[in-house]
Amino acid sequence: MRFGVDYYPEHWPEDRWETDARLMQEAGFNTVRLAEFAWSKIEPKEGVFEFEWLLRIIDILYKYGIEVVIGTPTAAPPMWLCTNKPNILRVNEDRLRITPNHRQQCCINHPDYKSAADRIVTATAETLGKNKAVIGWQVDNEFGPLCYCEECRRQFQEWLEAKYGSLGVLNEAWGTVFWSQTFTDWEQIPLPWRIGGPPNPSLALDFRRFFSDCYAGFLKRQIEIIRKFSDKPITHNFMGLWPEVLNYQKLASQLDFVSWDNYPFGGADPTGVSASHDLVRGYLNKNFWVMEQMSGPGGWSDMSPAPRKGRIRAWTYHAIGRGADGIIYFRWRPCRSGLEQYWHGILNHDGSVSRRYYEIKQTRDELKRFEHLIEGTTIDAQVAFINDYDSRFAFQYQRGNQAFSYTSLLLTLYRSFYNRNIPVDIISSIKDLSRYKIVVAPALFVLTEDVAENLKEYVRSGGTLVITFRSAVKDATGLIYNEQLPARLQDVFGAIVKEYNSPHPDEVTTLWGLSEAVDGHCAKASVWLDIMELRGAEPLIKYDAGFMPGSIAVTRNRFGKGTAYYIGTQMAQDCCDLLTEMIIAGAGVSPGIETPEGVDASVRKGPLGSLLFITNHTERPASIPRPKGYITDMIAGGPAPDIIHLDSYEIAVLGS
Ligand code: GAL
Repeated sequence: MRFGVDYYPEHWPEDRWETDARLMQEAGFNTVRLAEFAWSKIEPKEGVFEFEWLLRIIDILYKYGIEVVIGTPTAAPPMWLCTNKPNILRVNEDRLRITPNHRQQCCINHPDYKSAADRIVTATAETLGKNKAVIGWQVDNEFGPLCYCEECRRQFQEWLEAKYGSLGVLNEAWGTVFWSQTFTDWEQIPLPWRIGGPPNPSLALDFRRFFSDCYAGFLKRQIEIIRKFSDKPITHNFMGLWPEVLNYQKLASQLDFVSWDNYPFGGADPTGVSASHDLVRGYLNKNFWVMEQMSGPGGWSDMSPAPRKGRIRAWTYHAIGRGADGIIYFRWRPCRSGLEQYWHGILNHDGSVSRRYYEIKQTRDELKRFEHLIEGTTIDAQVAFINDYDSRFAFQYQRGNQAFSYTSLLLTLYRSFYNRNIPVDIISSIKDLSRYKIVVAPALFVLTEDVAENLKEYVRSGGTLVITFRSAVKDATGLIYNEQLPARLQDVFGAIVKEYNSPHPDEVTTLWGLSEAVDGHCAKASVWLDIMELRGAEPLIKYDAGFMPGSIAVTRNRFGKGTAYYIGTQMAQDCCDLLTEMIIAGAGVSPGIETPEGVDASVRKGPLGSLLFITNHTERPASIPRPKGYITDMIAGGPAPDIIHLDSYEIAVLGS
């Protein structure tokens, strides 16, 4: 396992470095991430490189048994570059050029930025590529910002020409007859600027795809350069479930392994963190790293609450339990200058060790006892959720209802599995689904022909598919399908959407369960109301009070050897839980381990056996009977007790 910290030696005098390395070694660290914002320190003037300081700290760390991941510093372009070439600064949606007082301030499509990035990445990879301490690379940092400059516009037009071939095809695909938006020259095509009103949704959708391709190209270029000098694994640090600005799945597919930055601010609901772990594991269907694990309070202006005693340890085990093979804490020592003065880490500002240091050290000491058993294990899920970036892009311009949020819909459905400790992979819609017993696709708004076929085939051959309202609405170019919804899938669901409504947030709509499993009055419906007409499906839940009482909200249909559920509204959690119970039983998914509220459990399986990770995410003590088959207490060593007691934020790891 990789265990360590994000370290910024460039912030501190060199005579401190050895002390830092020693303290890291004493904490049991074997890995440090370095340099991802150190561009101006490495290249203080154009073409002048100073790697000696970096080589010195790498040597010191190595002497203390610590290896390094090098971050390419392209997310922090130096001031000299931004001022010498002001046109490389990004332009925002309001067509304003940003000022260079932050990071990520350059346009990744600008040729001058690209050549500067090539130069720094080449120099870094050439200097460190064969360094014995370097075990991996992180390209850039948290990809995300878009740019709306003229260079991007030109490249977008080229991208569109390559995609559509002729303006006739593009005009048709985007439906530009609306409001006389028909283009007669490629150069007329704008970017989705905000000035003047929202853009054509098809244009906006393609712009997000274009920018995802731009970042994919930017990443590819860096990978190619690094590969000339190093054969060590390459990653990028993503941001979990929430960001939806780029198609991160597309970027991830180029990497050797995926990592992400986990900041469960304050009392963040562990559901979202779990889903993020499941998502990043799903990008490549393999274990991942947490490249930045919050280890202290943080914030740029207001500071978040400090992690209570035990929480950093709990976050660590929670991540490992869901497939993390590397935990790198953010950060070693809070900085004295700059925007992140409030971002705390393992040490205090004055360099002294904090209680957090001892908690992390304890975690590492424990893990050392059984990490050889963690190696080679991973999560075995029978359920998959589809996270669809095209749909997420489309919703950003057309939410449909002010209360709609893709992530909160996904998390409501996910929570019903998570609370039962049923393992879930979060994957993209184009993947092979055959290994899953249940596939849940929340609001699959944009449904391409191949995804429709993939889903159909999945159900036909025995899978259980669950989709919700606002699925199968738009085609690949963002036009509304010219057929009844769910388009392309009416036969799979044996039902069509006869009418729909986007209710006012104050409007009360209740549901009535018709089946045995979801019996009687069940819960509130909100956000969106699809009125279903049955074409062979069986009704499971109807609307009770509110808009069109008595009409059907949720259906189930047999199709081929499989089953398809359509959920026409956003159900409150209790109703969603009941329905999910029924879906799980119907699909024959193995039951999860039962835990009290706020306590979760996950299993890593491998050739040498299974490890069960149990985390109490609450301040309340909890007890659970020892699950059958898990006989060893990996933390304490020896046989596990029959009742597992977990104090506030306490964890347990049991071995089979
Ligand atoms: C992350 C970022 C880090 C640091 C941290 C705390 O998103 O990658 O560099 O800024 O947030 O703000």
